[in-house]
Formats: sequence, structure tokens, C-alpha cells
Amino acid sequence: MNLNGKSVVVTGGNTGIGAAIVRALAASGAAVVIDYVSRPEDAADLVKTITASGGRAVGVEADVSSVAGIDKLIQTAVDEFGQLDAFVNNAGIEKRHSLLEVDEQTFDQVMAVDLKSAVFGTQRAAKRFIEQGRGGIVVNISSVHEDWPMPGNLSYCVAKGGMRMLTRAAGVELGPQGVRVVNVAPGAVDTPINAQTMKDDSLRQTLEDSIPLRKVAEPNQIGEVVAFVISDAGSYLTATTVFVDGGIMHGSVGL
Ligand code: BGC
Repeated sequence: MNLNGKSVVVTGGNTGIGAAIVRALAASGAAVVIDYVSRPEDAADLVKTITASGGRAVGVEADVSSVAGIDKLIQTAVDEFGQLDAFVNNAGIEKRHSLLEVDEQTFDQVMAVDLKSAVFGTQRAAKRFIEQGRGGIVVNISSVHEDWPMPGNLSYCVAKGGMRMLTRAAGVELGPQGVRVVNVAPGAVDTPINAQTMKDDSLRQTLEDSIPLRKVAEPNQIGEVVAFVISDAGSYLTATTVFVDGGIMHGSVGL
């Protein structure tokens, strides 16, 4: 993938799928702003690895559940790399509970980190793209659960379902201005968000048995698809979702 000269922000870029996206983009030549809220050492390590191999990256602490945090990231991209070409709304949390169990505070937290951040990330990036006059790309990292109900995972499913409609609505609104908005929807991936399932052998087995490809994804299998979506090879994708799930949605259960 050729992303030479592109400047990209990745929210929650220091860990899990975010870190894999950062690696894939940098390997394709993009300059990357790596957002984090905790573990600054992980962002620093990524920056070190990328710069050591001749790439460009900078770590920034910013909470994307506030618009001020999002603006800080975009400003950094402009100050450091001269422009913004793509914005990846990757930051997310997952708290397991059913509809009958969920409390107001937990629901608000999940919605703020998983959905509000994506709405305003899309808005602020789009404003910048329009100002620059050269179009741009927003990639929203949703989940198979943007479409697939998962018992016991209510707030997460509601947030991801919201992201599905955000991408369609924003893609339609912004298409005429050359701004693409695309969801990349992973299935089960071996990341910290899934640590509980991954360290329990029987849960992991049940999960893998329900995946047609019989394997939980490695984070780089998602990162590479994001690089494709941002590149010219993905230039006709907008207002839609690319599922990267090993077929899990058509398997049996989500875990
Ligand atoms: C969730 C995981 C779950 C997977 C498949 C992901 O979006 O983060 O917890 O295992 O979907 O159900």
C-alpha cells in the first residue's frame, strides 16, 4: 500500500488494534499521530520503532471523549506534518452487561468513548479536510456488533450500531466534498479488549469453533485493511462497512 506523504491520526493508537493500524500505516509511508490516554510508554515505543526505520510518528496524550481532545490531535497533525489526510476513530472500551443490568454512568462512559468520539472525530476531521480543499478519509473501527446483537454486551452493541449509522449518514453528507467515511468492522481479535476470553482456554476454543476461519484475528490483519481503505486502492469505498471477521457473523455465537 502506498501512503507516502499522508498524515493520519489514529485514536487509541498505542495498543491493540490501534497499534497495529499505526504500524501498518507507517510501514506504508504515512506520518502518524498516535493518540493515547494511558501507557505513554507504549506510544513512545511505537514512535521509536517507526522513526528508527525512517518513518514519521508522534505520540499525543488526548482523551477523545471530549472535543478538545480531538482538536488537539488534529492540531498536532497539522503542526507536525503540515496537513491532515485521514482520521481513524479507533479508541474504544467494552464493558459487559445486559440491558437489565446496565447503569447510567457505565452507559454514558461507553457511549462517550466509543460513539461520541467517533461523531466528533468525523466532524472535526471533515471540517479540516474541507478547509484544505483536497478531500480526506475517516475510518471508523466498529465491530461485527455494529450489526450483530451480542447478549450481555448492550452498551458496546448500541455504540457500534450508532457508528454504523454515523458512517452511512456522514458518508452521504460528505461524499460531494470528496470526503470518504468507511467502517472497518473486526470480529474477534487477539487484543487487550479480549484478554478475558483469550486467557481462558475453553472460552477461546468455543470462540474459535464459532469462526469459519477457525482463528481469532491477529491485530495486523485489521491494520492492513485500514491501510487499504485509506490508500488510493480503496478510493471508491464510502458510507459502508468492510467486515474483517473470518466469517464469525455467519458462525454461531459471539463471546
Ligand atoms: C468484541 C469482542 C468479541 C468480538 C466477537 C468484538 O467487537 O470486542 O469482545 O469477542 O467482537 O464477538
